[in-house]
Amino acid sequence: MTWEADHRAFLDRYYRATHRVYDVSRKYFLFGRDGVLDRLLAGDWATLVEIGPGTGRNLARLHRRRPDAALGGLEASDVMRAHAARRCPWARISPGFAEDGDIGAVLGVPPQRILMSYCLSMFVDKDRAIDNARRHLAPGGELWVVDFSDLAARAMRPFLSAFHVEAVPDDLLHRHGATHVEHGPLRYYVVARFPA
Ligand SMILES: C[S@@+](CC[C@H](N)C(=O)[O-])C[C@H]1O[C@@H](n2cnc3c(N)ncnc32)[C@H](O)[C@@H]1O
Repeated sequence: MTWEADHRAFLDRYYRATHRVYDVSRKYFLFGRDGVLDRLLAGDWATLVEIGPGTGRNLARLHRRRPDAALGGLEASDVMRAHAARRCPWARISPGFAEDGDIGAVLGVPPQRILMSYCLSMFVDKDRAIDNARRHLAPGGELWVVDFSDLAARAMRPFLSAFHVEAVPDDLLHRHGATHVEHGPLRYYVVARFPA
């Protein structure tokens, strides 16, 4: 089995079992997402692709507040892609992997913003995923990341590793040229921004 088939099979198994309770349960531990959406919405852009949109929760919030924007997603799990497509019929949700997916093809143009919300921690190859996203941004565009940081890594390690999740270390973000890195309370989560 290739790593892609292996990772997709894991994700589909996991989300088939949990997608019905996903949004309700994640409200209690995927912190910082709405702050990032507010800050994204304060910027000037018309095209955004979310990598790993999951149930489409973030795309739905963005669409409500910026209905004219072109929104898309690149999703590795068939189960989650079907879920997001049902919830966000106005979005284009393509199958593919963060590490090597053609992000520019999702909307047919390089997006001005790319969002990775609590998915970098799940990727098989985080370095390739960041490089791939930056390479596909429109000139002047930005990649935004929000994900688990140090506190989550310490407090929830057994839980996270059971679900193939690894907190995001700051040095990964700095090594890839993040221009802005900040942490939520007690360093539970990290928010980072990268230029194109
Ligand atoms: C924890 S969920 C987060 C969902 C959503 N971004 C949110 O903030 O609620 C992670 C999502 O990333 C997707 N995912 C995991 N690995 C991926 C990869 N290598 N490429 C693309 N999507 C991936 C999962 O299928 C899932 O939908």
